[in-house]
Amino acid sequence: MPDACVFTIFGSTGHLSRTKLLPALYRLDKAGRLPEAMSILGIGRRDWDNSRWRTEVSKWLGERLGNSLEQEAFGRFSKRLHFLSADIGDAGSSAHLRQALDTGPGFPPNHVYYLSLPPSEYKVAADYLALAGLNQEIAGWRRLVVEKPFGYHLEDAQVLDHCLHRNFAEHQIFRIDHYLGKETVQNVFVFRFANLMWEPLWNRNLIDHVQITHGEIAGIEDRAAYYETAGALRDMIQSHLMQMLALVAMEPPASMDAESIRDEKVKVLKSIRPIAKGAVHAHAFRAQYARGRIKDREVPGYLDEKQVDKQSTTETYAALKLYIDNWRWRNVPFYLRTGKRLARNSSLIAIRFKHPPQQLFRETQIQAPPPNWLLMGIQPEQCIRAEVQVREPGIGMRARTTQLDASTCYQAGYQLDAYESLLLDIISGDHSQFLRSDEVEWAWRVVDPIIRAWSVDRAFIHTYPAGSWGPEEADRIFEREDQKWRHSF
Ligand code: BG6
Repeated sequence: MPDACVFTIFGSTGHLSRTKLLPALYRLDKAGRLPEAMSILGIGRRDWDNSRWRTEVSKWLGERLGNSLEQEAFGRFSKRLHFLSADIGDAGSSAHLRQALDTGPGFPPNHVYYLSLPPSEYKVAADYLALAGLNQEIAGWRRLVVEKPFGYHLEDAQVLDHCLHRNFAEHQIFRIDHYLGKETVQNVFVFRFANLMWEPLWNRNLIDHVQITHGEIAGIEDRAAYYETAGALRDMIQSHLMQMLALVAMEPPASMDAESIRDEKVKVLKSIRPIAKGAVHAHAFRAQYARGRIKDREVPGYLDEKQVDKQSTTETYAALKLYIDNWRWRNVPFYLRTGKRLARNSSLIAIRFKHPPQQLFRETQIQAPPPNWLLMGIQPEQCIRAEVQVREPGIGMRARTTQLDASTCYQAGYQLDAYESLLLDIISGDHSQFLRSDEVEWAWRVVDPIIRAWSVDRAFIHTYPAGSWGPEEADRIFEREDQKWRHSF
């Protein structure tokens, strides 16, 4: 069991806290995975006391977990819950936080500070903690947790990093990318490095290209204020998709310790060929959803969403072509694509192999059998599928495609969700599924030329009807005509 701590949540009444953090902590507690003496301290501006906070948390968990919220388990969980009304904008109140942490009933000496706040407030929060000496590891450990996006562009991310490092050492900072907590994303690592058979195939000699797709049918929900400043490139590609790319492309680490894993991911990001200003058009595509139908329901276009500027050219769809200039991957395109209001929820890594050098089993004079694919379903399918050619029964020697499927999800038992897994890592002090400062910076370097080009080119954006797979024009980033999007399994 990890050390007991006080798990302090800044922005504890906000969306992330209500929908992800508190449900994850409750489920961990119910499964007996939290240290006995751990307390959870909510910080917020509201004038609440412990009793009001417990009532609200019970309501939020009820909305989120429905029937799986058990009153007895919640009764135990709620004893861990405390609330302090404080405003990080009021520097003077940091002394109250210090006092609350020092004197809270049975509060352990170790602290997690989870900044469930907009990134623009990270700097203020870090200064606020430091002002009361809450960054110093004298009596126990101190861990600061920040969520993506870590900044809005490269320069901003560098400034933010500098501000965090003024008060906290790198070993105290946990930068969360919740995709790294997903079982199926972690499986990419195991699948590659616990099997010998893929390694000889995993390179430029046999792989034609790699596609990493995240599509969702949801729109921006009630997050217009955030999304208008982010867009799909920052929201998904710079973070989650770039991490998946790193896992697919990295070399085996020297060991399973956090530094070895992160060193290998950074090497991949550093090897990505910079996109020159004049090449942005050929490498990147953006679009925005227009009105359309999803599951037989008419849904509004992005410009008609609440709080969205009617002239907005924020992209809700982005596609990118990247090359990794190293010995393993040189000249193999990696296509990354994400979109809101697409036809289906689907997160998928699709690896297309080259054609055999000789086509003995042509379907027709001109048509060769399709190439091999290896598909790794992240969600909703949790499955690995290899598409291979076998003999078509009947007369003649013709090939047909068949699938070798392997489910990667647990058939039974307790499955940790991404936040549960990552919150446990934070409490245990394990950095291996969190981003290091240089990793974030290199991921920004990849997308920065596109961010710059798109930010000045605000006159026009392609659109696609909600419920489709995005505009056909996105195909322009493909290297060749025989490369096509693989939407789902
Ligand atoms: C978040 C993005 O980081 O990831 C959201 O901000 C996106 O826009 C979400 O919907 C997708 O995560 P998941 O776990 O639902 O696939």
